[in-house]
Amino acid sequence: MTKTARAYTNIALIKYWGKKNKQLKLPFTNSLSLTLNLFYTDTRATVIGNNSDVIYLNEKLLDDKKSQRIRNYLDTVRDFYGFSDHFQIDTVNHVPTSAGFASSASGFAALAGAINETKQLNLDRKQLSILARNGSGSASRSVYGGFVEWIAGEDNESSFAVPIDETPTIDLTLLSVVINKQSKKISSTVGMENSVKSSPFYPNWVTLVASEIKEIKQAIAKKDVQKIGEISEHNAMSMHALTLSANPSFTYFEPETIQIIHLVQELRQKGIFAYATIDAGPNVKILCTKDSLPKVQTYIEQQLSNVTTVIAGIG
Ligand code: PMV
Repeated sequence: MTKTARAYTNIALIKYWGKKNKQLKLPFTNSLSLTLNLFYTDTRATVIGNNSDVIYLNEKLLDDKKSQRIRNYLDTVRDFYGFSDHFQIDTVNHVPTSAGFASSASGFAALAGAINETKQLNLDRKQLSILARNGSGSASRSVYGGFVEWIAGEDNESSFAVPIDETPTIDLTLLSVVINKQSKKISSTVGMENSVKSSPFYPNWVTLVASEIKEIKQAIAKKDVQKIGEISEHNAMSMHALTLSANPSFTYFEPETIQIIHLVQELRQKGIFAYATIDAGPNVKILCTKDSLPKVQTYIEQQLSNVTTVIAGIG
């Protein structure tokens, strides 16, 4: 039996940052994202006779070390559903690292989807979201399109994503600004752990997210793009304040990240719609409108020669 599934990546407007249960990937807070229309993962799962899994990424066989996380995940899935089959997994990522998006969200959502199909588990989307979450927290949200909220929950069964508006008609486009620099990466898992453990502001983050989720949902309902932009940027900066205030302090920002934040502020002063959001890396995603997008793109490219920009819509 062999089946394929596709999932698109998402960008969090209200970030997930911190686990209250590491094994189950249960977050301390809800989070809220926008699924994109451009970057996706296609994954095929085939049941094989081996007693270990074989993993191909972009047509290359992954060695034991590189495939460890996926093989551990497949052990979890076997455990959940009580079967012993092993798989050949063929994953093709259409999430170019050069576009500045993480592939773990689309990757684990597609893998969960492919196993559901191949093993005919008949999971509904809530159960699929739970299964994807066990691979990577943000993957729980890639099971739906448009605006999606991940409900933190208290245990495996109660932590899953719900759609807010799967096909929103709203004037928002994302400009990804990619800093062409290979920086030393602190994984999101380690970054979250250090923030939860040692940032004196972590309890405030939990309170802040609760109120920002409420506010942004009202703004989404009213299609108030300015409010959505303001809340998203404030939430992202607050998340990065948790890294700076950890002990020892760390940051995902590169000098260019700060430069782009300043350029976004300058654009707003000129009356051009632009709000920044940043994940666990140095690249900046700018929320734009149809009208502001070309202006924002031209300005950023003029001011900074060493960056690449990529446009993505809502998917
Ligand atoms: O799903 P993970 O473990 O890759 O963590 C994602 C963390 C952020 O991208 C920074 C925020 C989010 O909600 O997607």
